[in-house]
Amino acid sequence: MELIRSPDRFRDALELARAGRQVVGFVPTLGDLHEGHARLIRTAREECGVVAVSVFVNPLQFESAADLAAYPRRLERDQAMASSIGADVVFAPAEEDMFSGGRPEVTVDPGPLGDRFEGDARPGHFRGVLTVVAKLFGLAAPCRAYFGEKDAQQLRLVRAMVGDLSLPVAVVACPTVRKVDGLAVSSRNARLSSEERRAASVLFEALSTAAALVRRGEGRADVLKAEMARRIGAESLARLDYVAVVDDRTWEEPAILDGPARALVAARFGQTRLIDNLLLPWADGSTVHNSGDS
Ligand code: PAF
Repeated sequence: MELIRSPDRFRDALELARAGRQVVGFVPTLGDLHEGHARLIRTAREECGVVAVSVFVNPLQFESAADLAAYPRRLERDQAMASSIGADVVFAPAEEDMFSGGRPEVTVDPGPLGDRFEGDARPGHFRGVLTVVAKLFGLAAPCRAYFGEKDAQQLRLVRAMVGDLSLPVAVVACPTVRKVDGLAVSSRNARLSSEERRAASVLFEALSTAAALVRRGEGRADVLKAEMARRIGAESLARLDYVAVVDDRTWEEPAILDGPARALVAARFGQTRLIDNLLLPWADGSTVHNSGDS
């Protein structure tokens, strides 16, 4: 496994791989790798000739300097983990080498979806994410790039960017990795106290309740949202931020489900804000959905 610091050297290394007719699999990360990243790297390993993992704590996507400073930097550990799962290259650039002057002059506008849900809670976040992802794709592409469904809005926006800007990248979504109680694996989980950690499973319980209601024929988004909010509200350590049900393709919020939809939840447990989501069951449109006449 090779550790590369320089963006030019990273691009050259992947050029060489492509010259040898190898498919490049690329896993962008902020570092502090966990089981969720391991799944992405493993999937890339199964599908590609060369696997590159970037470890870059992107300053553009953090709302505050304090959050940015607090993000764990564990390059040696990350390198060892990526290598043990089969990564060939770890790209860990310095901030000043990614953008001249440390900040880009040109950034990627995420469009209206960039201001909703996570974008509303974290202004500027998705502009920062897409700008750095575009930059990384510029260095790594053409490639297959691996993203977790856990950050569904990020995944949706990366796909939109790749489509709208015709970037030579195939975006591959990997399922969320969950603990036995359903909690989605996230680097933020380490910040939870043991009580908060226990309470945090309520997010998956709420999502699962919405899925069960849909399976029984409920199609009213308001009913699904009310039930999710009720479940989360019943957990005294949770402070609900939002619940939503979106069309999985457009991310508009339907009043009545009429195709594949995704339930979203965000809540705080103490100082830690967690998000999760679940694709709701949808047979093929033949499922009887409650149209609102109760
Ligand atoms: O999901 C992440 O870890 C980050 O948002 C990403 C995609 C690596 C961009 O910095």
